Amino acid sequence: MPHFKTAIVVGASSGIGEALVRQLAKDGVVVAALARRVGELERIKADLGAAGAQVRIYPHDVTDFGSVPGTFDRVKADLGEVDLVIYNAGVMPTVAESEYNFQKDHEMISVNLLGAMAWLNPAAAYMEARRSGTLVGVSSVAGDRGRRGNPGYHTSKAALTTYLEALRNRLTRYGVTVVTVKPGPVTTPMTQGLGKLPLIIPAAEAAAGILAHARAGSVEGYVPFAWWPIMSVIQQVPSWIFRRTNI
Ligand SMILES: NC(=O)c1ccc[n+]([C@@H]2O[C@H](COP(=O)([O-])OP(=O)(O)OC[C@H]3O[C@@H](n4cnc5c(N)ncnc54)[C@H](OP(=O)(O)O)[C@@H]3O)[C@@H](O)[C@H]2O)c1
Repeated sequence: MPHFKTAIVVGASSGIGEALVRQLAKDGVVVAALARRVGELERIKADLGAAGAQVRIYPHDVTDFGSVPGTFDRVKADLGEVDLVIYNAGVMPTVAESEYNFQKDHEMISVNLLGAMAWLNPAAAYMEARRSGTLVGVSSVAGDRGRRGNPGYHTSKAALTTYLEALRNRLTRYGVTVVTVKPGPVTTPMTQGLGKLPLIIPAAEAAAGILAHARAGSVEGYVPFAWWPIMSVIQQVPSWIFRRTNI
């Protein structure tokens, strides 16, 4: 089971990402925390710094794809080595039942998928050369089926899951672990105002589950585990039934 000394969390300013930074830092990991909202990053750093934890913050927009390799190199130089990269950044704008909105789709694909590729490509090249490391992508149960609620979000997470599988198939032979984590609903700013969601868990519990999968080197892990049997059944529902439901 790997012991992480250093980690990068992309999408670290609230919700699950903030909880990941807090738990890693409390475990003594030196964490680089990236997101756009620098004020939120400063709040987290100040909180954790007071307790002696080492958190470095980097204001960053993942859709500024051209800046990613340089940012990755700068963070790597600051940390010395990078043992763990967690790509957690994501957006899920509300999409109404009969809304077909390319701008929202574009944003979700840009942040949830292209940002992940922009970050995990240089991280993969670095870890392949180093012959060790762990890459984690925070996907979602939402990527397991094309549900009617938010086609762009489901597509972004399905594509992220497939991209991570392909990375894993490349990198395992070089001693690099690639972990796909699929949380169900989590109480975060993203799910605020969405009403009562099934099996919803706090962000701290989601982060603990993600880190447990990272440490175990899981291939694909659901958080909480209860989603595994549920999604195994939902994945088998034939399309002619599925399209008549809202599951
Ligand atoms: N909440 C759920 O029920 C749930 C379930 C399954 C999976 N997930 C996934 O979990 C991840 C975290 O979501 P969350 O629920 O914790 O929501 P959240 O609190 O809204 O966090 C989203 C994070 O992504 C960052 N982000 C968004 N756009 C970005 C950009 N252009 N550049 C850099 N960072 C960006 C945000 O930072 P800034 O805004 O400061 O940039 C924030 O740190 C997402 O990938 C989400 O899809 C969530």
